[in-house]
Amino acid sequence: MAILPIITAPDRRLKAKSKPLDRVDDDTRKLLDDMVATMRAAPGIGLSAVQVGSPVRAIVVGVREADREEDAPETLFLVNPEITFESDEDVLIEEGCLSLPDQFENVERPDEITVKFLDRDGKPQTLQCGGTTARVIQHEMDHLEGVLFVDHLSKIKRDIILRRLLKVRRQKQPADA
Ligand code: NI
Repeated sequence: MAILPIITAPDRRLKAKSKPLDRVDDDTRKLLDDMVATMRAAPGIGLSAVQVGSPVRAIVVGVREADREEDAPETLFLVNPEITFESDEDVLIEEGCLSLPDQFENVERPDEITVKFLDRDGKPQTLQCGGTTARVIQHEMDHLEGVLFVDHLSKIKRDIILRRLLKVRRQKQPADA
């Protein structure tokens, strides 16, 4: 498994709308496994393919021990995910993103969701979830539409965060590099 470079905002590639996958084949599985390695190394609890430069509808989610049944997998692989149900109740939870390093803000989203998707074997699955897992899945699915968590904030808050990220980038890359 390879650790891939993560694209950080602002970057036009993060605005791309990701394409559905026709099938889950060995290439898809390699991408998914590399995404998990990349997510764990970061470390993070969710990653979408577009963040590592592959604009296809695939996400990986790390499930916290506290949110997991005993024999449940610690990583979810979701290909072509679709939300089929959202609870009426919204909750405010602080979010971060590997493409917006060290930036955190509260975002309001539905508390519980049902999502259908293809798993790592290409089998159709349906998952009902709440808590952190529901939150991370919704955040990662936004990436597939070219949407970042800062797009849910006011323009003022968004601009502050994006300016901070540009400043960090300038400090890392001297102007004459
Ligand atoms: Ni993100």
